[in-house]
Amino acid sequence: MSEKQGFSSSFGAIMAAVGSAVGLGNIWRFPYIMGQYGGGAFLLVYLAFVFLIGMVLMMTEFVMGRRSQHTPPQAFVSLRPDRKGWRFLGYLCVFTCLMIISQYVVISGWTVNYMSDSASGVMATISATGMAEHFQSFVSHPWHPVLFLYIFTLITAVIILGGVQKGIEAVSKVLMPILLLLVIILCVRSVTLPNSSIGLAYLFSPDFSHLSAEGVLAALGQALFSLSVGMGTMIVYGSYIPENDNIFKTSLMITASDTLIAVLAGVAIFPAVFSFGQKPAGGPGLVFQVLPTVFNSMGTVGTIFAVLFFLLLALAALTSAISLLETIVAWLCESSSCGRKAATLIVSSVVLIIGALCALAYGPLDSFHVLGDNLFDFVDKLNSIYLPPICAIGTVIFLGWQMKKEDVIDELSNHGSITTGYFPFYYFLVRFVAPIALLVVLFTGIYNSLQ
Ligand code: PFF
Repeated sequence: MSEKQGFSSSFGAIMAAVGSAVGLGNIWRFPYIMGQYGGGAFLLVYLAFVFLIGMVLMMTEFVMGRRSQHTPPQAFVSLRPDRKGWRFLGYLCVFTCLMIISQYVVISGWTVNYMSDSASGVMATISATGMAEHFQSFVSHPWHPVLFLYIFTLITAVIILGGVQKGIEAVSKVLMPILLLLVIILCVRSVTLPNSSIGLAYLFSPDFSHLSAEGVLAALGQALFSLSVGMGTMIVYGSYIPENDNIFKTSLMITASDTLIAVLAGVAIFPAVFSFGQKPAGGPGLVFQVLPTVFNSMGTVGTIFAVLFFLLLALAALTSAISLLETIVAWLCESSSCGRKAATLIVSSVVLIIGALCALAYGPLDSFHVLGDNLFDFVDKLNSIYLPPICAIGTVIFLGWQMKKEDVIDELSNHGSITTGYFPFYYFLVRFVAPIALLVVLFTGIYNSLQ
């Protein structure tokens, strides 16, 4: 049997995992929820969650992946062979990845379209008042959004076809430094604009009156989504991590990088928004309506910054989509006789179909409803309220209560060769704090959605 291929180096492993973590969630979603829920106050809560629960989940998934050398369903079975029922949690993780990527490619397609419209000069001809209409007419077009999601998915699939080292790792090692450079360029532009301090104050000054219970829950949900944990992706990447890497340090570096980029994205966006007298918006409005208006107000250089910004978003989305697609492809390869090529073809085709149906939910399929929502919103609910918390709860309970404690220590300590003084604290978080916090998120999410 051929040796399973993993990442060739620690740096490659970290870049790939940071690539998965840094995505639309950091650059678009984090800044507006941080602004909305009290700036610095939200940041404090977010930091606590991201390090105490998000990073703990990441370590948990890495331990399971590297120890089992399998994808989610088989990983659960091989780590606890006498309780085969856990494999269903693995299937749920794979299904969650499929639902997330099918929605993710739709929005990623929008960013590719905005990048090309910015580069071709079309964006520059649209007035501030016409931006909302432009966005509406694009997303409701009978085939434009589908075309762009197809382009995006094809690029993702080609990288997956390249394999773990020559595809995922090689691309991440190049794209991640470029991405950091792009964020820094945009930050410098933003903070050197007149009145940028208003945006910085909006983003950072701690306003605890805006930090509602809803904000606290949003912080935890965002922490999980942003770190790509709770859906098995990091189990698969964990199985590729070099044997002698320190899981604690690797997870710490990934978590810190992801958080840093999210905060920098806020610095790149809000000072510019306020400087040009725009109002911060939430949801798609911020990136697809407010920001293009801001770039237009910058004159000709605005075009360059617009292209750079949408390139940043598209690249960040690409390395995240790669990890989602890889999880499903790796699972299919492992559980069938499919080779990587066939598996990539099959999974990408399924993503293209579900993705296209989601993309058309704002256009020709807007009257098609599932449980009262159009398809995009229905999948969005599954992805934000139900699936990730359920998978995450199962994962922490599995490691905390089903795996042997000695096995977990053995994996974290690289078979006793490195110290794990943090272990008792980590184990307490996995067994008690994370499951309870995640259950609260799940039940509150369900309760709110039924209101
Ligand atoms: N972490 C990505 C983001 O912040 O956009 C999204 C994501 C990627 C979630 C991969 C889950 C995942 F498995």
